[in-house]
Amino acid sequence: MAEKKTFYITTPIYYPSGNPHIGHCYSTLACDAIARMKRMQGYDVMFSTGTDEHGQKIEKKAIEMGVTPKAYVDDIVANFKKLWATLGIKYDRYVRTTDDYHIKTVQNMFEKLYKDGYIYKSEYKGKYCTPCESFWTESQLVDGKCPDCGREVTEASEEAYFFKLSEFGPKLKELLLDPEKNFLEPKSRVNEMINNFIEPGLQDLCVSRTSVKWGIPVTFDEGHYVYVWMDALTNYISLLGFMNDTYNDYEKYWPADMHVMAKEIVRFHSLIWPAFLMALGEPLPKKIYGHGWITFDGGKMSKSKGNVIDPFVLCERYGVDALRYHLLREMVFGSDCPYSNEQMFARINSDLANDLGNLVSRTTAMVIKYFDGTLPEEKEFTEADNDLLEQLDVLPDFVSETFETMRFSEGLAKIFSVIARANKYIDENEPWKLAKDDTAKPRLAAVLYNLLDAIRRVAILLEPVMPHTSPKIFEQIGADESNTTWEASKARHALAAAVTVTKGEVLFPRIDIDKEIDELNKMFPAAEEEKGKDLEPLKPLTKFDNFAALDLRAVKVLSCEKVEKSDKLLKFKVDDGFGERQVLSGIAKYYKPEELVGKTLAMIVNLEPRKMMGLESNGMILSVKYGDGYRVVEFDDSVLPGSDIS
Ligand code: MSP
Repeated sequence: MAEKKTFYITTPIYYPSGNPHIGHCYSTLACDAIARMKRMQGYDVMFSTGTDEHGQKIEKKAIEMGVTPKAYVDDIVANFKKLWATLGIKYDRYVRTTDDYHIKTVQNMFEKLYKDGYIYKSEYKGKYCTPCESFWTESQLVDGKCPDCGREVTEASEEAYFFKLSEFGPKLKELLLDPEKNFLEPKSRVNEMINNFIEPGLQDLCVSRTSVKWGIPVTFDEGHYVYVWMDALTNYISLLGFMNDTYNDYEKYWPADMHVMAKEIVRFHSLIWPAFLMALGEPLPKKIYGHGWITFDGGKMSKSKGNVIDPFVLCERYGVDALRYHLLREMVFGSDCPYSNEQMFARINSDLANDLGNLVSRTTAMVIKYFDGTLPEEKEFTEADNDLLEQLDVLPDFVSETFETMRFSEGLAKIFSVIARANKYIDENEPWKLAKDDTAKPRLAAVLYNLLDAIRRVAILLEPVMPHTSPKIFEQIGADESNTTWEASKARHALAAAVTVTKGEVLFPRIDIDKEIDELNKMFPAAEEEKGKDLEPLKPLTKFDNFAALDLRAVKVLSCEKVEKSDKLLKFKVDDGFGERQVLSGIAKYYKPEELVGKTLAMIVNLEPRKMMGLESNGMILSVKYGDGYRVVEFDDSVLPGSDIS
């Protein structure tokens, strides 16, 4: 028996430095839709996603929160996985860069590249912020100062390993310009890579650090940790078992058919990644696809008025498939795509409720009304059917071609133009008139059969994008497994001749747009002037007892100083009315310590003690979000320390 053809598609591995938002959804949804289509087309698919868990940013966040980096990322990874489950993402493998097998691969690969002379030891020079223990490049500095704490930086250097990226310029240029390969899509990015990076001369790439310790140790040089891209990009082969014993799929799936990502990391995938693979002597991926960004209010994500973009909320209120459809329909490959709830509602109403939903409900209702739900075998097909049938015949290849080149918007627009054609076919053939004439029954049966079969064919093509909706449609129109395969979308009249339909639920209820925007505003209130600020959504209701369990008091600040080696933490001595206590608060960026001495603040005094940066904190000082920072909640001098807040 011939072996199944394989297909390997990847999303970027996301940084778990914050919870996933709707921007993260696009690459993953696109890959999921392609993977689903390829499975339907009979491919043996490997669809991978995961998280990129090492690095300075995560190390710092964890320190701020007083937890280990691993505990910190575990929580966020759980949220990523929850989002993918909610969105119906059917990945085959989830790689975490903290997984043992991945660590093995990176270490083995680093050793090999070192032995083969592609990695060498030298000095990393940069701007160093001593309190933050961080190196920065010139372009990362803000007004010449540390972007994290705003303090002066100094020239510094540390021992580090480098990868000889500079040697690969000519080969990479050849790869990018190879007309057979079309390695990088969209093509506009090819020139960008060549003109901005290859032509000016590629710099060798720093691949280890000693100052960032949350990383994979270099096996042969203690104190060195593999740095960022060598760790991250390697995920695409570690998860197949390259240089590790956990998996054995490398021969089967590599090279990847498609690496999908947004534009800001195309450079790493189209220059650095192939260079690593060339140095290893391994095959290169077949295609890199760099799509645009989902933007919000012109770039910045905003949870302000009516613009809620929490994907969990959207899925719950409007349905997973509506969101999947909207995002894939809206983004034109290669361009950015502004997100708006209003536009999504309009799309749901016009495409999903009006065109698709109505076509299904009208057609099944007529089969029930005129034939008690089961069509007779005898039918009279005529030339008037040809246009619809011909449009359906060319659809599968077009959809396949557009989807697998990330042109979902084109493919979906075409499917919906055929759905519109089917709706027009109803009006042209006026079944309600045919129903009045007994001799016209065979023609009426043919018209309704053509419609059911058209619905079957478009629903198959929509299944990769709307995997929860198509099965419901199949059930309503009496389709079964034999006539809902991808191949069956190419066949005319594959439904049983005496097909039986059932009345099902409304697939996509219409949305009252104004009312819905109002609802969202009530759920996520934001004053007009708050527009653009990142308000947290309201939490669910809780019992009064939960509030009563907290002991809130006014406290007087006796002393305040910065915590060494932390750019966030301040250490306080406060008088809580009963005595002195030490408390830490992450507001160092917003206050000079001396500003706070003598102030009377609000504090939760009965939280269990917690250690941060080796110091114990006994309670929590309350602050309120203010612009991009925080202000402490404070009382005037007349309020006595220890006074109860309720
Ligand atoms: N960890 C690296 C990638 C390593 S891959 C070997 C990284 N992570 S990230 O969390 O910042 O994710 C970047 C990716 O998230 C983008 O390339 C894109 O796939 C997705 N998106 C995040 N926000 C996005 C939008 N607003 N719009 C579209 N996609 C974006 O970079």
